[in-house]
Amino acid sequence: MRNELRLGILGATGMVGQQYIKLLADHPWFKVSRIVGKKSAGMSFKDAAEWVGEYDPPASIMDMKVDGANPESQGADLFVSCLPTDGAKELEPLYARLYPTFSDASAYRMEDDVPLIIPEVNAEQGRLIERQKRSRNWMGFLVTGPNCTSIGLNMTLKPLDDEFKIRKVIVSTMQAVSGAGYPGVPSLSIIDNVIPYIKDEEDKVAIESNKILGKFVGGRVEPAGLAVSAMCHRVATIDGHMESVYIETEKPVSVNDASQALRDFTGLPQSLKLPTAPEKPIIVREEPDRPQVRKDKNAGTVPGMSTVVGRIRPGLDNHSLKYTLLSHNTIRGAAGNTILTAELFYKQGWMNL
Ligand SMILES: NC(=O)c1ccc[n+]([C@@H]2O[C@H](COP(=O)([O-])OP(=O)(O)OC[C@H]3O[C@@H](n4cnc5c(N)ncnc54)[C@H](OP(=O)(O)O)[C@@H]3O)[C@@H](O)[C@H]2O)c1
Repeated sequence: MRNELRLGILGATGMVGQQYIKLLADHPWFKVSRIVGKKSAGMSFKDAAEWVGEYDPPASIMDMKVDGANPESQGADLFVSCLPTDGAKELEPLYARLYPTFSDASAYRMEDDVPLIIPEVNAEQGRLIERQKRSRNWMGFLVTGPNCTSIGLNMTLKPLDDEFKIRKVIVSTMQAVSGAGYPGVPSLSIIDNVIPYIKDEEDKVAIESNKILGKFVGGRVEPAGLAVSAMCHRVATIDGHMESVYIETEKPVSVNDASQALRDFTGLPQSLKLPTAPEKPIIVREEPDRPQVRKDKNAGTVPGMSTVVGRIRPGLDNHSLKYTLLSHNTIRGAAGNTILTAELFYKQGWMNL
């Protein structure tokens, strides 16, 4: 393993790109060496990005020049991509042909040889790249992260499914404005408002959950066969998606047993002690009024990486349960999850670097 890898960010000036820049500022393995944009190509980062964070960007990035996309001449050891869907569709295969490429975009999430990874939940599906590299004859590979709403949801479904076998999931979401990118939803449409529609989001949550929780057998993912129904709303918070979840299970489920399963949940990132792994992937709160977006979105040892769960209570019978979860959409829901995935691939030796 080399000590330091050069990392390029495709889409560095956007909402997710800015999170990469913050999270990678002091990263022990990955150093940002290239930033790529379209409209901002040729400008310095400080002139190109409408920085929305509370603190200034790291000094090392301020004067870095934004490059246009050019995979052939963009020396970096790996790339992360937070491009919009059309940009991702066109550019990600060109990068993945040459480099390990980790994406937050939806363009290739459902291809059957492309992993869709939450490292604590389905790390084994990372092995899909073996088939991908062979069949596409690529030197690099493409790995994706799920939609920001699917990530928080599936983080909690995994331990409950392992323990009680979930049959049905009904989820209603309250999603922050940063989920729509920059500048996103116009201020006059969202202030003092809730919008009960986010294009394509409800279908993504249902389809992705079945791949994420699917079984990895014979080099393929068999979909989990879960019935998932989502109702997605945009609300006037900045970061942090809240989700109200109702599940039905094959085995009887109690509040105590479910709380314990969520509390005990841990995964490969924790046992490998990866730099971006939170000590607890799921934090359970007992108070009747938690989680709350302002108080809990950055909870845990790695801010923004833990899913916070509360209000765990019985459903209509002893085969059902309801709870509320909160997940930071641009950290665990995008940049943080993808950095953790890249760390996992590097540590497992799957990057060949
Ligand atoms: N926001 C979230 O919470 C979230 C969560 C999970 C996944 N995602 C996904 O992550 C991706 C990025 O989301 P975002 O919210 O960061 O969007 P955003 O704020 O609109 O940023 C998009 C970035 O992509 C760059 N870009 C656009 N077209 C390009 C092209 N053809 N070549 C190179 N760069 C290009 C833009 O730079 P220029 O201005 O220079 O063109 C900008 O830096 C999307 O696919 C989104 O669905 C977002």
